[in-house]
Amino acid sequence: MNSFTADFEEIRRRAREHMEDGPITEAYQADRQKVIDVLNEVLATEIVCTLRYKAHYYLAQGIHSQGVADEFLQHAQEEQLHADMVAKRITELNGKPNFNPDGLHTRSHAEYKEGTKLEDMIREDLVAERIAIGTYSEIIRWLGNDDPTTRRMIEEILAKEEEHADDLAKLLVRLGVASDGH
Ligand SMILES: [Fe+2]
Ligand SMILES: [Fe+2]
Repeated sequence: MNSFTADFEEIRRRAREHMEDGPITEAYQADRQKVIDVLNEVLATEIVCTLRYKAHYYLAQGIHSQGVADEFLQHAQEEQLHADMVAKRITELNGKPNFNPDGLHTRSHAEYKEGTKLEDMIREDLVAERIAIGTYSEIIRWLGNDDPTTRRMIEEILAKEEEHADDLAKLLVRLGVASDGH
């Protein structure tokens, strides 16, 4: 492996040049505006997922399924945490996190579907998680080494979405409604 070398004089000079850009320096290789736009879609996805899990939490309580309801609540809290992580990263990139409810559903990768039966709720959540897993994996590949901080954050969120999908698949098995091998 080659030893790490860098023109430290030049890096220090550039760091002073755009102090108002905060953590964004000349070393940032990605298209900042495109990353902000993509992160606003992720933010919308996380907000929609938070709302859907919250709805499912309250609906499930009505049909006496405390175990499942608790799982929904935990997921809602974790999606909210993801939304906060993404919004914070957007501001670090000098962008504006979009919390506008207008167009929220269009910006989101995943859908807001309620369902009435417990198993329908779990299935809708599983579909949404699998969509998020697919699009976040794409974002990670797209970012490559151009913005390692954003990539690491999306990787961390992706790992949690995979855990959510696994929780939901196991809930379906527990309820005895898992589809046979599909
Ligand atoms: Fe999430
Ligand atoms: Fe999730």
